[in-house]
Amino acid sequence: MASTPAYRIADLFAARAKNIAPPTYGTELTKIITVSFAYGLADPTLFPHDDLAAASAEVLTKEAPTALNYGPPAAQLYEQIILRLQAQGITADRDRILIGYGSGQILGLLPDVFVEPGDVVIVEGPTFLGVVTRFVSAGAKIITIPVDELGMDVDALEATLIDLQKQGIRPRFIYTIPTFHNPTGVTMPLSRRQKLVALAAEYGVLVVEDDAYSDLRFRGETVPTLASLDKAGWVLYVSTFSKIIVPGVRLGWACGAPPIIERLAMFKSEGPVGPFISHVIARYCAAGKLDAHIQKLVASYQHKCDVMLEAIAHEFPSDVIALRPDGGFFVWCKLPADISAKTLLNASGEHGVTFLPGTRCYTNGEGDDAIRLAFSYQPTEKIVEGIATLGAVLRQLRQ
Ligand SMILES: Cc1ncc(COP(=O)(O)O)c(C=O)c1O
Repeated sequence: MASTPAYRIADLFAARAKNIAPPTYGTELTKIITVSFAYGLADPTLFPHDDLAAASAEVLTKEAPTALNYGPPAAQLYEQIILRLQAQGITADRDRILIGYGSGQILGLLPDVFVEPGDVVIVEGPTFLGVVTRFVSAGAKIITIPVDELGMDVDALEATLIDLQKQGIRPRFIYTIPTFHNPTGVTMPLSRRQKLVALAAEYGVLVVEDDAYSDLRFRGETVPTLASLDKAGWVLYVSTFSKIIVPGVRLGWACGAPPIIERLAMFKSEGPVGPFISHVIARYCAAGKLDAHIQKLVASYQHKCDVMLEAIAHEFPSDVIALRPDGGFFVWCKLPADISAKTLLNASGEHGVTFLPGTRCYTNGEGDDAIRLAFSYQPTEKIVEGIATLGAVLRQLRQ
């Protein structure tokens, strides 16, 4: 009898599945982690349990036949999202909105609509790789524009667009996080935003504005969203309830030109989001509790951020440069030339402390000169403890 060939499941994978790498942090951590600054997790002590329980109970008593059946998201959820968008000066109506399982899901659909292998997509460096890896696995050619203390360098972007135009290349879209950027925490000022929106119209390039954090402003003046500045229809705005209610509701939305919304929806093959959670969140918002809840979050995250910055000022060598965010979840630290983020992570992991090395925020291997510290999740005493440990490890590495 002929012997059966040694079949391997892995040989069945499509190239994009073969090539996709599991997230690694540049280290094999063997010690138990006692303080993680690695993930931008929401603070569970701030979750609005009681109000969510009340909204759920109301839905079950008053809306069960529709909320518990197959069907579209609650019409009232569209209304609540439209109200929030209009309050930001964004043109919003039902035809311009797609609701998805978190903004991450919607951002992950972009390649389906826009990217053929080899197409150019422009991203910031550093950026939120959580979605950029989707662009990469769709075969996009990624061009990285540097981010400084004022967000994306729009002059560098302009130079790139000119260069691409000379080569006859029209990028498919520019992905940006202009407010409380992940990972750097920086916010793009109005003048850069105006230039970015003007460049999009001039070169006919879509700008995808990821606005996950702008409600969490704890200092400084509100800056208009790119979507509110855009009169020509070149901005697709994306946001989420994850940071202002709870991530577990998995509800995000996009607002933009109806043909884009329509096509994104066609690739959302599992259909709309769960009717039940959409009814619950619509009721929670309609009860008028959200703004007060956001104020509570802002006060708490501001305190945690200040605790982290103060601890860094005390504990880190003075040539580690920490950027001071006006909101959001993250502090970005530039390391001195003699310290590598990966080496630091290996060493701090041995002491139970982790963070995101900058290399996890670039597709091109850059970033070993920086680290992202999330202050959102840890209680303040853990922030102080973790930063003290990191400071000691930094000093040790220098001996
Ligand atoms: C910048 C940014 N965009 C999008 C997301 C995804 O959020 P969600 O899918 O929970 O809406 C995150 C989550 O951390 C984020 O930091």
